Amino acid sequence: MRLVSLELRNYRNYARLNLEPATGLNVLLGPNGQGKTNLLESVALLALSSSPRARRESELVGPLGPEARVGALVEGRGRLAEIRIWVRIEAGVTRRRIEVDGLPRRAVDLPGLFRVTLFWPEDLNLIKAGPEHRRRLLNQLLVQVRPGYARALARYGRVLEQRNSLLKRVANGEQPADALDVWDLQLARTGVELVAGRREVMQALAPEAARFHSQISGGEALEVAYEGPPEELLQALHQSRSDDLRRGATGVGPHRDDLSVRLDGADARSFASQGQQRTTVISLKLAEAAVVTALTGERPVLLLDDVLSELDATRRSALLEHLADPGQVIVTSVEADPFPARVIGRSRVWQVRQGRLLPCG
Ligand SMILES: Nc1ncnc2c1ncn2[C@@H]1O[C@H](COP(=O)(O)OP(=O)(O)OP(=O)(O)O)[C@@H](O)[C@H]1O
Ligand SMILES: [Mg+2]
Repeated sequence: MRLVSLELRNYRNYARLNLEPATGLNVLLGPNGQGKTNLLESVALLALSSSPRARRESELVGPLGPEARVGALVEGRGRLAEIRIWVRIEAGVTRRRIEVDGLPRRAVDLPGLFRVTLFWPEDLNLIKAGPEHRRRLLNQLLVQVRPGYARALARYGRVLEQRNSLLKRVANGEQPADALDVWDLQLARTGVELVAGRREVMQALAPEAARFHSQISGGEALEVAYEGPPEELLQALHQSRSDDLRRGATGVGPHRDDLSVRLDGADARSFASQGQQRTTVISLKLAEAAVVTALTGERPVLLLDDVLSELDATRRSALLEHLADPGQVIVTSVEADPFPARVIGRSRVWQVRQGRLLPCG
């Protein structure tokens, strides 16, 4: 995958930008608040159809009018595609329009056309925050490599909601308990589909993440393991029914899944330092890109926001070595200092200043 060119109009603090990134390593340097993350966000938007960062889509629209536009020429499987996304605020309502090669497309059609692997500081929640962050990592990966996964995930969510509301009605006597049977069965069926995908992808992800982590850290052992529901999900649902009725919520199933993360044998959640957490998350992201590459035949574009801070010099240079793998990377940093001259020498470097990109060197 490759971002051939990017065009922004009235997007956040970019009035107008035309960028042709290099096919290898691209470095965006600039002080705080200049537009480094905004630029990565716009590239991620092309892959995901919605911003992984904005709370409301209207945030993307700049001060110069009611509409923001992101356009790009991308290359995948030796084919060029032109993606355009408009976000427009009209009478207080925000609308998004997508075109691929001049034809209107729905947001659900976009994933797969252009793929990115994104690391940004928010991802550091992955280690210490709640399990939903780690489930999101699995889901995001599976959605990219398993065509039916997104649909199964949505179906599971609906069935779970139905079962939970039925639990409440059974608990207060509005419905007989055996009304739950059909929902248990549905939940188990869809759940097993999710679990199979997660198991399979973790088998590929865990050794890749361990390899990256060991190389970047100089030998630290990272073990990531999938913590799924009991094997016999239907039976487990039956067994937890009386607890579930008391709680009014379903206590077993892939919606409770987690990943355990251990560094040199110790639970990373309790013991990992800032730099160790960052190394772990970056390793997981690089592993994600490797798995997507293996399963789709094409490497996603790596978007790495402020990836080097908190890392010591050894880890920085080991990480930058990996970014030299063939493939396109866009990395941001507030300063050039952490980049070895050798790396800068083979990168394209820009200074970001108030929504403008100035080529340097
Ligand atoms: N819709 C918008 N219109 C105009 N400006 C915006 C809009 N949304 C965000 N900005 C501006 O963009 C700037 C932030 O840009 P960004 O987050 O890309 O900074 P950054 O270069 O990544 O900084 P840091 O190094 O602190 O992470 C802020 O100053 C903010 O006011
Ligand atoms: Mg930023």
